[in-house]
Amino acid sequence: MKKTIFSIIVVAFLPQSFARQRDSWENRQYQSSYEKLRQNISRSDTPRGFVVASPSKSDPNYYFHWVRDAALVMSALQQTLPFDQQKPLFRDYIDLVNNHQQVWKITGQGEPKFNPDGSSYSLPWGRPQNDGPALRVIALTRHALRLIENGGIDYVKSRLYGGKIPANTVIKRDLEYVSHNWTKHDFDLWEEVKGHHFYTRYVQRTALVLGAQLADRLGDHGAAKWYRKQAVELNQALEKHWSAEKNYILTTRNRVGGLPYKHTNLDASVILAVNHASLPGLSFSATDERVIATAWKLIAAFKDIYPINNRFDGTGIGRYPEDRYFGGNPWFLLTAGFAEYFYKLAESYQKDHRLTVSDTSKKFFNKFLGLQFSHGVISDDLSVTEVISRLKKHGDQFLNRIKRHAGQDGRLDEQFDKYNGFMKSARDLTWSYASFLTAINAKRRL
Ligand code: NOJ
Ligand code: NOJ
Repeated sequence: MKKTIFSIIVVAFLPQSFARQRDSWENRQYQSSYEKLRQNISRSDTPRGFVVASPSKSDPNYYFHWVRDAALVMSALQQTLPFDQQKPLFRDYIDLVNNHQQVWKITGQGEPKFNPDGSSYSLPWGRPQNDGPALRVIALTRHALRLIENGGIDYVKSRLYGGKIPANTVIKRDLEYVSHNWTKHDFDLWEEVKGHHFYTRYVQRTALVLGAQLADRLGDHGAAKWYRKQAVELNQALEKHWSAEKNYILTTRNRVGGLPYKHTNLDASVILAVNHASLPGLSFSATDERVIATAWKLIAAFKDIYPINNRFDGTGIGRYPEDRYFGGNPWFLLTAGFAEYFYKLAESYQKDHRLTVSDTSKKFFNKFLGLQFSHGVISDDLSVTEVISRLKKHGDQFLNRIKRHAGQDGRLDEQFDKYNGFMKSARDLTWSYASFLTAINAKRRL
């Protein structure tokens, strides 16, 4: 009783918004996501810099360093921590990547995961997965550019990017791999289908563009030119994923193996690609009508497929409609990913003060956001402001779904059950935490 009266008094004297904000669920979840993510890095029984995908060692065993998950986790930390606090974490990560690049591997630099003892995973698996090296380049090149600004050019030249061929530095090795291998078939980020994937190509394009920037900055102009040339070709390859007939982006083209039942070819990883790797001025940005149309198709599909989505506002998002992994359920990292995408779209419209509604994107605005736009450019303040506020509201609804299905202490596993909403599959998934952090970062930029 006493305590309650005391807190009422304290709260009464705090500025309202501050009191509300400080202990809001969102802020608490942000903090615990950060802490829980950190617990999965450099654990006592793994090498330094090693990021376990989850502490779960059975059903499923995720006690490995996945190249993709780890790079995305490092990118999330990059957005979350002050630079000085990032540096030691990156040092460990860079040393680890340097070892992983040189250790024996079945498929070379596209190898998807590593054991806690430092060796590569050598049992049957969907390999190679060529998004991994590209995601590493994205995180590490951004880091290198920051280091150069802060007087760290020597370290960058000796450890991250030296012009020498064969490459003997971390970023250069990955750039050489990406630029020479992107035309080959590989397994998608879900480790299931072999072919050419929108997500993989998208992150490869970004890796090559950023890599070229770094190469130029360090005087390696010939290499920069080569990386850019590959990026231009990737651009053209990406265009081929658009289906005007279906009105969405096809996740895989030229399938040559793996799961045969992804009939719709509709996949939430298209939205992740935009979150993880869009660059100003390049196609398939957040505001691209084709991305918007795909987001709408995905929401509509998952609304129908997961019974739990009819019980609450907002939509739990899964990987793709035909998914059967653990029965096929919504995932935290994808539901957070959609929140992030909505905030990013709102941010772009805030900057542009205008938006375009086309045949391709009109259902998103009219059916989903509940507006009544006809085609064309919308640039009056009132309408643009309304769109932004509805985007934020829907972004928050995705977060509300995370709040509803999360554990009490902020625990986020990989999935939540499509019937009863309880968490499922790998516990404390590091990538779930990373995507919650980046979603909130996007929200805070608004
Ligand atoms: C099948 C799943 O669908 C895939 O995404 C996963 O990575 C592997 N099994 C390993 O757990
Ligand atoms: C299965 C997911 O499909 C894949 O994307 C991820 O890398 C691994 N689990 C590890 O989290």
